[in-house]
Amino acid sequence: MKLIIAAILLSFACYNQAEEENVARLLASKNILNQYLVEGKDLTVEYKIYNIGGSSAFDVNLKDSGFPETDFEVLRGSLNVRWERIAPGTNVSHNVILRPLSYGYFNFTSGEVTYKPSEEATESVSGYTSAPGEGGIVNSKDFDRRFSPHVVS
Ligand SMILES: *[C@@H]1O[C@H](CO)[C@@H](O)[C@H](O)[C@H]1NC(C)=O
Ligand SMILES: *[C@@H]1O[C@H](CO)[C@@H](O)[C@H](O)[C@H]1NC(C)=O
Repeated sequence: MKLIIAAILLSFACYNQAEEENVARLLASKNILNQYLVEGKDLTVEYKIYNIGGSSAFDVNLKDSGFPETDFEVLRGSLNVRWERIAPGTNVSHNVILRPLSYGYFNFTSGEVTYKPSEEATESVSGYTSAPGEGGIVNSKDFDRRFSPHVVS
């Protein structure tokens, strides 16, 4: 009896696995490309989405609520982007350039990604990008004092 149950479970698992091969699965990362984060100076954030699944992902939306308007000005790109479709085995990337309006400690959190895992899917699935984590944004005066060759202290 036990053996039969095991066999049934096993075939169910195989069936599930086969099914999964026909859906999209997205991995998403979020990285800050700058070495130094400085108040008032451009900061570049790179988002990458990689489809490791067996089907195209449809209606892919990336949304990042982690840069409040009171702390950052968006200079280029959008914190809310959409791709019609991402084919299996391919990557897309998106860069946003921001300007930090103040300095101090900041927690860089993850963005949110939602997508339809197949063309027939009626419901979207959602996930998160990686999170860059905590970082310090340097005061522009301190930065200039340290890095400008024209200032003698
Ligand atoms: C997509 O990105 C992943 C992770 O960065 C990399 O391993 C893979 O080679 C890339 N694939 C293509 C087709 O660029
Ligand atoms: C940073 O934000 C993440 C996500 O909201 C949270 O889990 C983490 O505890 C925060 N870290 C600090 C030091 O506040």
